[in-house]
Amino acid sequence: MITSKVPALLGGPPTFEPSLAFTRPAVPSFAELAPEFEEILNTGALTKGPRLARLEQSLREHLKSPHVVCVNSCTSGLILGIQSLNLSGEVIVPSFSFMATFHALRWNNLTPVFVDCNPYSLTVDLEAVRAAITPRTCAVMSAYVFGNPPDLDGLDALCKEKGLAHFCDSAHGIGTLIDGVPAGNHGDFEVFSCSPTKLLTAAEGGVVSTRRPEIEQWIRNGRDYGNPGSYDCDFAGLNGRMSEFHAAIMQAGLPRLESYVQARAHLVEVYKQHLCAIPGIRFQDIRAGVRSSNKDFPIFIEAGAFGLHRDQLQKALLAEGVPTRAYFDPPGHQLTAYKQDLDLPVTARMCAEVLCMPMSSLMADSEAERVCQCLLELHRQAPALASV
Ligand SMILES: Cc1ncc(COP(=O)(O)O)c(C=O)c1O
Repeated sequence: MITSKVPALLGGPPTFEPSLAFTRPAVPSFAELAPEFEEILNTGALTKGPRLARLEQSLREHLKSPHVVCVNSCTSGLILGIQSLNLSGEVIVPSFSFMATFHALRWNNLTPVFVDCNPYSLTVDLEAVRAAITPRTCAVMSAYVFGNPPDLDGLDALCKEKGLAHFCDSAHGIGTLIDGVPAGNHGDFEVFSCSPTKLLTAAEGGVVSTRRPEIEQWIRNGRDYGNPGSYDCDFAGLNGRMSEFHAAIMQAGLPRLESYVQARAHLVEVYKQHLCAIPGIRFQDIRAGVRSSNKDFPIFIEAGAFGLHRDQLQKALLAEGVPTRAYFDPPGHQLTAYKQDLDLPVTARMCAEVLCMPMSSLMADSEAERVCQCLLELHRQAPALASV
């Protein structure tokens, strides 16, 4: 890498002008979707139509899952899936996750018990889960972190041994393979997100995958207010339907999912190749046997060795036109909605160190390389930047 520039924070020109996108959705072209949209409009079958049924069938085949139900968001899928289990009490959940993970519990009147994560994989620590189990525990909720799944076999085995439910917020998991099998085949159920930041998007949407037919049925009714068809509902569902437009967008994207995963895996290699020599930067460990979706590309900034704290680096990168995200800071137990006075030392450290770099299925190698050049330059000039 041969660069030497004055960082934008010290008065130099920004590296990217206009600014680089943090992420960009990979979507089919309008020309490809236009005939689909035209037919949806002409037939008037805007929702609950053939495209939704076809998408669910395609996803069953793709995920190798017997039961798949599409909903209008991962959040609504989680809420309905948890509702189907009729739980009460406490649910053990990693604090290092997105707020929607915890909201799904709150909407079901369940109490989150936050536990620590592993400092390398960023996923929930199995031993921390085991240690947190009490007679009040009714379930464990785990979560993929940036495409890396938690130890789902270990969690399934632990929950079976203890008689607990286990479900997973797999929002980041579409495209992930575990021992060669697509994500979506663990726990009582898993839910993917198809919002615009995910590899496969419906614009907005969620996908529930389960091995249990009664959970599938609950969600089918639940996404339709709880209406079993007779208009006499026996529980309070919601409007969680995925429209035909959304289903058409996602169906058209599905054949490209694999190429999106490959594109991201390649970008991760480009990033790592250039960043591995910079002191104070390390990467997320992906468990053996896992191919991550790389929904995000996190780096960990050790302030002492890098020369800048994560927040100082984020500010300097932003000035260069490189937007980043400090996911998931603040963590669950420090969100105002859930505040608990807990000591979760690994989560606290990860919240101070993790910074997600720009990543998308459409990003060019040259863009990733220039981000790396920026990082190198900011490290070199850290002493001057630290006082800005
Ligand atoms: C870990 C996690 N869970 C849940 C969600 C919510 O997904 P949705 O926006 O589809 O409801 C997100 C959103 O990105 C997420 O990152």
